[in-house]
Amino acid sequence: MQIIFIGLPGAGKGTQAEFIQAKFGIPHISTGDMFRAAMSEGTALGLEAKAYVEKGQLVPDEVTIGIVKERLSQGDTARGFLLDGFPRTVSQALELERVLVERRRRIDLALHLDVDSGKLLGRLTGRRICRYCGETYHLMYRPPQEEGSCDKCGGPLYQRPDDTEETVATRLEINVKQQKPLLKFYKMRGQLRSVDGEAEMDKVFEDICGILASLH
Ligand code: AP5
Ligand code: ZN
Repeated sequence: MQIIFIGLPGAGKGTQAEFIQAKFGIPHISTGDMFRAAMSEGTALGLEAKAYVEKGQLVPDEVTIGIVKERLSQGDTARGFLLDGFPRTVSQALELERVLVERRRRIDLALHLDVDSGKLLGRLTGRRICRYCGETYHLMYRPPQEEGSCDKCGGPLYQRPDDTEETVATRLEINVKQQKPLLKFYKMRGQLRSVDGEAEMDKVFEDICGILASLH
């Protein structure tokens, strides 16, 4: 099962990808998570990505494509993968297609989590993440049982630095522009399906599972 998630910032890609990874055991590959890990480790990749991620801009294609290619060459992707946040541009999509053709593989599904961009500011500014285990919460839609600490591991919750109002506005503007041609690209290839990402999290997951079941 080779799946890509397409969705604006805050559409629920990371949330649903974690549900899918838990249920189907396929690796969840998030370019955003890879950049943040590299930034906190202070690697050369992290230093390069930092300037873009902090401003909410896209990291240049050659850098992003490079890390995805390397990740896809790892053994745990043999049974499938779920790409979250990649591709985000048509040139990334073309490059992914090329790499998969070389390996005699193809995308089974490009899943669009459809949420109106006007709904996303609140989702992003209210998001909180566990510093220890990475679990994602929302102050209103998925609050932790105890304020400020993770239900799973008790770790402290933090807010992503790019989840401020100003940076969110930049992220939304850039991603709205990039998403349209990307949706067209996968629609033309007959790989695109959409779910209503404005529904409650459990309902979105149910809809995704329905689509996955129909693929077999
Ligand atoms: P990345 O980390 O991928 O950020 P993003 O695309 O902006 O997406 P998010 O992680 O913010 O949102 P999400 O859709 O995963 O939402 P979530 O499930 O957390 O990328 C970060 C940066 O890295 C980019 O800005 C760029 O600089 C760089 N980058 C990454 N990939 C790149 C690429 N391919 N090319 C170039 N640069 C790249 O949900 C959000 C909140 O809403 C949570 O609090 C959650 O609890 C809540 N929520 C989720 N679902 C629902 C629901 N159904 N109802 C109510 N609340 C919900
Ligand atoms: Zn935790």
